[in-house]
Amino acid sequence: MIVSKWLVCQLVLFTTLSHAFTDYLLKKCAQSGFCHRNRVYSENIALSRNSYYKLDAASVVHDPLQNVLHATIIKTIPRLEGDDIAVEFPFSLSFLQDHSVRFIIDEKERTSVNDSGLLVSPQRYKETWLHAFDEKFRGEVSKTNFSESHFLEQPRTGNSLWSKLTSFLSLSNSTSDAIRLQNGCVSLEVLTEPFQLKIYWRNTLKLIVNEQNFLNIEHYRSKEENFAHVLPEETAFNMFKDDFKYSKDDTLPLGPESIALDFSFIGSTNVYGIPEHATSLRLMDTSQREPYRLFNVDVFEYNIGTTQPMYGSIPFMFSSSSTSVFWVNAADTWVDIRYDSQQNKTMTHWISENGVLDVVVSLGEDIPTIIDRFTDLTGRPFLPPMSSIGYHQCRWNYNDEMDVLTVDSQMDAHEIPYDFIWLDLEYTNDKKFFTWKPNSFPDPKRLLAKLNKLGRNLVVLIDPHLKEDYEVSDIVINENVAVKDHNGDDYIGRCWPGNSIWIDTMSKHGQKIWKSFFESFMDLPSNLSNLFIWNDMNEPSIFDGPETTAPKDLIHQNNVEERSLHNLYGLSVHEATHDAVKSIYSASDKRPFLLTRAFFAGSQRTAATWTGDNVANWDYLKISIPMVLSNNVAGMPFIGADIAGFVGDPSPELVARWYQAGLWYPFFRAHAHIDTKRREPYLFNEPLKSIVRDAIQLRYFLLPTLYTMFYKSSTTGFPIMNPMFVEHPELSELYDIDNQFYWGNSGLLVKPVTEPNQSETEMIFPPGIFYEFSSLDSFVNDGINLMKRNISAPLDKIPLFIEGGHIITMKNKYRRSSKLMKNDPYVLVVAPDANGVAVGELYVDDGETFGYQKGEYVRTQFILEGGHILKNLPDHIPDNLADIHNDTLRNTSIEKIIVAKNTSQHNVTLNDTVTVKQDGRERSLSTKLSREDDNRIIIMNPMLDITEKWELTF
Ligand code: NOJ
Repeated sequence: MIVSKWLVCQLVLFTTLSHAFTDYLLKKCAQSGFCHRNRVYSENIALSRNSYYKLDAASVVHDPLQNVLHATIIKTIPRLEGDDIAVEFPFSLSFLQDHSVRFIIDEKERTSVNDSGLLVSPQRYKETWLHAFDEKFRGEVSKTNFSESHFLEQPRTGNSLWSKLTSFLSLSNSTSDAIRLQNGCVSLEVLTEPFQLKIYWRNTLKLIVNEQNFLNIEHYRSKEENFAHVLPEETAFNMFKDDFKYSKDDTLPLGPESIALDFSFIGSTNVYGIPEHATSLRLMDTSQREPYRLFNVDVFEYNIGTTQPMYGSIPFMFSSSSTSVFWVNAADTWVDIRYDSQQNKTMTHWISENGVLDVVVSLGEDIPTIIDRFTDLTGRPFLPPMSSIGYHQCRWNYNDEMDVLTVDSQMDAHEIPYDFIWLDLEYTNDKKFFTWKPNSFPDPKRLLAKLNKLGRNLVVLIDPHLKEDYEVSDIVINENVAVKDHNGDDYIGRCWPGNSIWIDTMSKHGQKIWKSFFESFMDLPSNLSNLFIWNDMNEPSIFDGPETTAPKDLIHQNNVEERSLHNLYGLSVHEATHDAVKSIYSASDKRPFLLTRAFFAGSQRTAATWTGDNVANWDYLKISIPMVLSNNVAGMPFIGADIAGFVGDPSPELVARWYQAGLWYPFFRAHAHIDTKRREPYLFNEPLKSIVRDAIQLRYFLLPTLYTMFYKSSTTGFPIMNPMFVEHPELSELYDIDNQFYWGNSGLLVKPVTEPNQSETEMIFPPGIFYEFSSLDSFVNDGINLMKRNISAPLDKIPLFIEGGHIITMKNKYRRSSKLMKNDPYVLVVAPDANGVAVGELYVDDGETFGYQKGEYVRTQFILEGGHILKNLPDHIPDNLADIHNDTLRNTSIEKIIVAKNTSQHNVTLNDTVTVKQDGRERSLSTKLSREDDNRIIIMNPMLDITEKWELTF
């Protein structure tokens, strides 16, 4: 017994270790100069309770034109001999959008040190927001776009400028050392000594900035003078050098320049966001572990449950009390989190290597509003082409044209729908991007044309590293748009092709050159627009670089160090790619589909992403769900994980369960490492093949619902894979549930099985009626708390329910691709709540062009009232509906309405006639009600169209 336990442990250990990222390549906080310095500083400050930062009240100026408050923050460094050193940091604060506050803290003087010979600009990088914010907030206009704000009280030491403001601002007479401001429901106090901000929503305190006095800005100083500039609570660890084994060549030309600040979320002990990490949805307390790190790196076979950085970074965090912090900084960043349940608050400490402190705090009534605000500011997720939310078949690699076409035809032969087939690295000629391997892909246009027949698409990989010495990299060098090393020479590092250079897409000229490569590469006949791009390795991944990525002292255009913009580089690559593809397809007005591995806040505007190089075992299946959920609540919903694990060969059971889970990922792609056995779904033996086919087909049947959710997300940022607490914030037990979730606001509730040998699983249900998806068997939770139930889950079954109160739209015919479903009629599944009420939305457009931006779409609401009146209320019908009907939306009729029957609530006698009111007339349907079982009534061929207003009584 003991021996076998020991054996099991060893096996588990072995499996874990045999697939583990080489941890030691990445710094721990204690090995990162600035992280360590700030953690030590915060520990010492917590003991000494000192504060070195104050806002100079006399410096406060309000710029009424721009509605910005300006002031100076002063850091005082006490010196035993001689005068204290005072360093000035310009501070500005404004109300942004309706319910957000933005403040920026810069450093005034950064030229006092002898700069001769410096290749990088000594100024702090302050342009991250120009990449992260949506275009509409980038121009001058945005500054005046702030809502009206009022300075309610003046600081005690008001100056003359301040008194001038009194004429047009409503100032109270009270004397206080706080400046109080209000804008709608948001009010805030700026405390001067020590500097602190208190931010309120409807007069309830939600966030305190610098409550713990962890504000720290390592100002500019020379190496010689350094010790005079170090605060008593600070350590000088690695201020001018880097001891870490893999990055000790970092020249750190500007010395210490980190910034740090603490934020206390009041009234909540649950925080979410800051992807990408392979951890739980509710972020972990880091008092006893490494801080969460945001630093885009290549983490092959990444470790699970750690706060290690991954491929993408979104520095956005929110609390369950609907308050968010967006830390607009793209440098290496670490975040400590400490939950304090006694005081019901969460303390967070944010540390970045350099740049300015640029922070947007948003407040609101609920979490969807907070995500809405964030995606208003950073841009809405793009509305993907319908085909791209179907199934993607990928592998490293499909070897040649014949291989691709065989997969293509086999999928059809086995009735497995798919829309995209992918070509990984090996399609290139000798790993030179923008080329095709001549013998394997002699005629790419021919291949594209064949795929196009069924509306299918091809994706090819294009990475930002370019092999040294070929025409494309020569152009990059000649045009002077390669990223430079710290000496100003073109940087050469190692990646797939061996020695490579990297395109500098942070530069406008670099973007132009990059675009020109796509123009030649994608020079297709006008009837072909089915070639799309995958930007991989764009963290960037550099095999001989420190921490698997770029040396921080590389130089981009305008003498900006990689250190300042590292987390933006991937975004700049995929945005440049997106713009290129969009303009190439402008004739057909096709929406591009693009996949990126690295991302930042704002990436959602143009690209989908995935969770990178996972492993074919149960742990990675399980962790994929919180990972996908985390991105969904951070404004970037179009994400999935490689099915059924990138590295290694999955067991048949794992394959089945992974497809059953993966069909709910917004991005649904199978992918496999080059060393794995082939695993296209038609290769599986029964019953696995049917299980996988059923999962993929279910995804296709649900495409109308999914596309409607993508539409909702593209207008409000609403999550597609949606945590339960977002739908039911009143149930605090849901705050850490991340193994079951809703699909958007559709009412579909899923708990994928993520463990082996399960025949049932325990699910939790909020109050309400729940209908099992396929049988429509229902049960009621009529309490006010969560209910637990064991749900049967044999291998061919997905634990899936419709929550009463929702109407789902489907198309229920198998077709080979989404394009071929275009003309299929709709099926409505109506799931009434206890009052016989249900609602559902449907959004329909042509699924491929930007026509919807000109209003070419249909949007409607279905409403069930009293259990037997179903209304269709279209609220958007295009003016040119007839043309669109003829052209792209050929069929918008309903072929079947299924009403789930909850026996206790819903008394419908069969053989009742069904009447329809439409255009002021009433008609009886020739179809009678029918039923397959006691659980549902079915109305066949009701001759109704979603583009018309009607009311159906049954
Ligand atoms: C790394 C990516 O994460 C993986 O998906 C891809 O197959 C390989 N690069 C090869 O291109």
